Amino acid sequence: MKEQIACNMRQFQDLRSLAAAVCIVCSCTNVLGVYTDDFHVTWGAPNNTKLVDGGEVMQLMLDNHTAAGFASNKMYLFGSIDMQIKLIPGDSAGVVTAYYFSSELTPSHDEVDFEFLGNVTSQPYILQTNIFANGVGGREQRIYLWFDPSADFHSYSLLWNEQQIVLSVDGIPIRRFANNEAVGMPYLRKQPMGIYASIWDGGTWATRGGLDKVDWGSSPFVAEFGRYKVDACEGGKGTMEEDGCPSGKWWNEAAYQELSYAKKGQLSWVRSSFLVYDYCTDSERYPVPPPECSIS
Ligand SMILES: *[C@@H]1O[C@H](CO)[C@@H](O)[C@H](O)[C@H]1NC(C)=O
Repeated sequence: MKEQIACNMRQFQDLRSLAAAVCIVCSCTNVLGVYTDDFHVTWGAPNNTKLVDGGEVMQLMLDNHTAAGFASNKMYLFGSIDMQIKLIPGDSAGVVTAYYFSSELTPSHDEVDFEFLGNVTSQPYILQTNIFANGVGGREQRIYLWFDPSADFHSYSLLWNEQQIVLSVDGIPIRRFANNEAVGMPYLRKQPMGIYASIWDGGTWATRGGLDKVDWGSSPFVAEFGRYKVDACEGGKGTMEEDGCPSGKWWNEAAYQELSYAKKGQLSWVRSSFLVYDYCTDSERYPVPPPECSIS
């Protein structure tokens, strides 16, 4: 009951501090977050990261000296993570704004990426996603978005449980990666992941395959990370037994183990209308499509 109240209260951002206090009772991590509590700067000079709007917005700035990044203080194992992002307006060619989840960087690390590939003024961004399981990536997909991601904040989400990983944009699924361990495919299930954001020069490849480089005359480039919500279990505390989620978390319920009929429809709308590239159909790169491609 207390947990229910705490979770309802989190709907109200002006009750944040109160909700944070109550959350200790339910030992979960699903408040609307406070940057200064949850993240630390990992990359850049002191003025390449800046908290504005009363601490609700973290700006990441790329200039011709330095890239920038931040990371969560904690690692998570399963749950739901939403982040509002507003991308660099105007000329952003060659600039990559990355929002991703990663376990410790070992040869067998797990990772889920949202990478926003900038463009020259008024040309569309590409959202590239990728998934590394047990150290193996190479699963790039690219889509255009159905809105201008630099005009407003939009929400970019990860739903992660034992059965599936779903990446969504404003609640619309853009990608699903299913647990196919039954047929020998590795799945992201054992390693907690942290939350990362960064902005950097990807001029050699990001925009039209590297044809449009970063125009430093347009710098500094600023991407904004706004409100976020982490409703996830904390991992990385110790042994696997100590990590992970108690049962009964909402994201383990049957409704979240696969996509609903409606969400399947949305995903196929995204794929038929906005897909630019899918590793599954890149026969030059993968003469034999990776096994997960033929399953889902
Ligand atoms: C940039 O715009 C060009 C021209 O419209 C388009 O072909 C390309 O896919 C866009 N995005 C990137 C990241 O190159």
